[in-house]
Amino acid sequence: MYVGVDYYPEHWPESMLEKDLDGIKELGANMIRIGEFAWHLMEPQEGQFDFSFFDKVIKEAKKRNLSVMFGTPTATFPAWLAAKHPSILSKDEYGHVRAFGGRRQYCFNSPEYNRYAAKITEEVVKHFADEPAVVVWQIDNEFGHEGSDWCFCEHCHSGFHHFLEKKYQTVDELNERWGTIFWGQTYNSFSEIPMPVPTVTTHNPSLKLDYTRFRSESVNNFAHKMTDITREHAGSGQPITTNVSGGFFDKAFDHAENVRVMDFVSYDNYPVWGGLTEPIAPAAIAMTHDFNRGLKDQNYWIVEELMGAQGHNVIGYLPRPNQAKMWSYQAFAHGCTNMLYFRWRGMTKGAEQFCFGVVDQDNRYGRKFKEVQSLFSEIQPYEHVLNEKIESDIAVLYDYDNIWSWKSQVQSASFDFNAELLRLYAPFYRHNASIDVIPTDRAFEKYKVLLVPVMQIIDDELAARLKRFAESGGTVVFSFRAGLKNRDNNIHFEQTLPGPVADLAGIEIYETEALAAHQSVPVKSKDGKEGSGKVWRDLVTPAGAEVIWQYSDEFYEKQAALTLNKFGEGSVYYLATGLDSEVLEPVALDIIKKHDIWHTETPAGTEAVKRNGHLFLMNHTGRTQHVCGETLAPYESKVIQYKKNNGQK
Ligand code: GAL
Repeated sequence: MYVGVDYYPEHWPESMLEKDLDGIKELGANMIRIGEFAWHLMEPQEGQFDFSFFDKVIKEAKKRNLSVMFGTPTATFPAWLAAKHPSILSKDEYGHVRAFGGRRQYCFNSPEYNRYAAKITEEVVKHFADEPAVVVWQIDNEFGHEGSDWCFCEHCHSGFHHFLEKKYQTVDELNERWGTIFWGQTYNSFSEIPMPVPTVTTHNPSLKLDYTRFRSESVNNFAHKMTDITREHAGSGQPITTNVSGGFFDKAFDHAENVRVMDFVSYDNYPVWGGLTEPIAPAAIAMTHDFNRGLKDQNYWIVEELMGAQGHNVIGYLPRPNQAKMWSYQAFAHGCTNMLYFRWRGMTKGAEQFCFGVVDQDNRYGRKFKEVQSLFSEIQPYEHVLNEKIESDIAVLYDYDNIWSWKSQVQSASFDFNAELLRLYAPFYRHNASIDVIPTDRAFEKYKVLLVPVMQIIDDELAARLKRFAESGGTVVFSFRAGLKNRDNNIHFEQTLPGPVADLAGIEIYETEALAAHQSVPVKSKDGKEGSGKVWRDLVTPAGAEVIWQYSDEFYEKQAALTLNKFGEGSVYYLATGLDSEVLEPVALDIIKKHDIWHTETPAGTEAVKRNGHLFLMNHTGRTQHVCGETLAPYESKVIQYKKNNGQK
């Protein structure tokens, strides 16, 4: 098992190297991650490759039995390259060139960038291919992060035309499928088609979705090309990964496709960043882990685990003592097998002066150092547990086409895809059930429960797969707007909502309403309980389904807000509005019990994960809590043996 830190030896005088590595060793680490931003150091002038600095670092690391994850440095290119070929710089939607000075401001479609990136990747991989200490390659750094997935330059415009031509073959076919007759936008040739840059009102929805698909292809083609080069030149014991950043549902590329060619997924886990006044909710953090595990349906690494407060120009919440360690336990509980902390020491110069590390600018080995040290020694005995595959009975389905469709037409000003996914995920998480987060094209027959949040793009094939799943006994949970659109991002014609899954859900929807952030609608249950719905409401007429909750405001008291349909051997729920957690947690519990899925009840803000005869317990609160028969101090986390009837189910 590898545990370690992200180390940037090039940031410090060489005279500090040996003492730093001794300190890293004292921390209990056996790996350093290096190199990913050091292109200029490796190629200070065009064609002059020099890896001697990292040769020295690796020589010293080896003396201390430290292994190395090496990053190919294409996320930050040298100034000489931008000066020589300004066309490598990407452009924002207003056509403004993104200046040299930040990072990842390259265009994925720039032939020059591809050429230079290929060359440095080849040179660095060849140089260290036979180096036994280099045990993993990382490709680039956080593809698509910080808005770098979008570009609107000339390369991208002509690339988009080729993408469309390949997809539609004839412009007539495109005109028909996009419905360009609307507002007289019919194209005579592919070259007339604009990118979705600012215009008056808004662009055609099919164009917007296709441009996002083109972005996805652009990012992934580049990532795959760099991976192929690395694979061709890497040594035999050198697998390949790339680090996935947070905010993955907000990005314009398909992540499962991105990592398809990698050997394993790595994730950068930052439960709090920038100006956040508090960390994201425990369920939201858990979901990010389940998503990363779902990308290749296998366990994954964390190669940037937060220890200190982080932010570029603004910082916020400081993780409380033991809180970052607890987030690490949570990651291990959800499938992380190897972990590196960001970063060994915070840098006193440059853009990340406020991204604090295990050690701060005073260079003392203080509270955070001891916290990491204790984590490293406590977790390693559980390596065999961490390496076991996690099998879940519940899966959340997502589809990037659907997410992008929502992104370009949010319909309700209060809509947020992440929040809607969590609306279905969190009630099951609250009962500590294990959940996978997977793309819709993954085989899902093995699950007992499928959560299908706001899936407005549903084609006949997906509808048929979901029907087979329910028929053979599975439970499907839909939320509002299901089945509205086809893959061209157009509304299904002559179908009553929820379109291709109307019979599956046993309902009909004739009218719908968007709810603004300050609006909510009252709902009541069959047995007189009260709750509320937000964001959206479909007015549901049952057509076979049983009504469990209904609206209780005037005009709509007869319309259903939550229904349950029997379909074959299975059950299908439809949430017509953004129901609150008080409504959904009991519903989740009914489903969990019906399918006999492992769960346990723990106090709010705590978490228990059962894995291979063990329980991982996490206290996400600043108060002492009693969880599964154990007392957990504020932010404490631990692994215990799983025993039935010990306050545990
Ligand atoms: C990550 C990134 C690192 C560093 C870190 C700061 O997103 O990969 O290079 O910028 O954030 O918190």
